[in-house]
Amino acid sequence: MNFTVAIDGPAAAGKGTVSKRVAAEFGFAHLDTGLLYRATGARVLAGADPVEAAKSLTPDDMARDDLRTTAVAQAASKVAALPEVRAALVQFQRDFARREGGAVLDGRDIGTVICVDADVKLFVTASDRVRAERRYLELSGNGHDVTREGVLHDLQVRDARDSEREAAPLAAAADAVVIDTSDMSIEAAVAAATDEIRARLKHV
Ligand code: DC
Repeated sequence: MNFTVAIDGPAAAGKGTVSKRVAAEFGFAHLDTGLLYRATGARVLAGADPVEAAKSLTPDDMARDDLRTTAVAQAASKVAALPEVRAALVQFQRDFARREGGAVLDGRDIGTVICVDADVKLFVTASDRVRAERRYLELSGNGHDVTREGVLHDLQVRDARDSEREAAPLAAAADAVVIDTSDMSIEAAVAAATDEIRARLKHV
């Protein structure tokens, strides 16, 4: 069975957690596509050419310990604005989406560019304040030296760059179901996503 779930949204809206949980629930494979851009950004910070880095990513690049830092997040957002970098990563994502047994991909352009025919499209979002607070708690909990204001600023800069770029900007697909998690527990957000997927699975 081929069944693709596309989950897009801004940074720290909860899409990573929702994606992991629904993938586990339905036994689908999960690809966090942000990691492709983060791994590319990390290699650029180490001196690589962005397009060469994107074309030659290895599993080791994707497993680096520093991919969650704010420096790498910003570098990811910058390389992600380059059309040639995006082009180098398209095929891997589409192949992943078509794998047997179902797939969940989360990112910024899954429903709008990578998988326009996805069976379910979700756009997971939340207010800036709520997203910044969540990311602050996550980063400080993992021992990163961050402030609330710094995290909020970092998210806003990144979202503006991701939304305003020419190439595959962050946007909800016209046929995406929007889940605003500002006032929702993670359980409620996962339940909303699960309901959408279950309803759609009845028709395949
Ligand atoms: O999801 P994330 O925060 O790990 O993504 C890091 C950056 O990668 C994000 O700021 C923009 C870019 N990205 C993208 O342009 N397209 C995607 N499908 C996923 C991420």
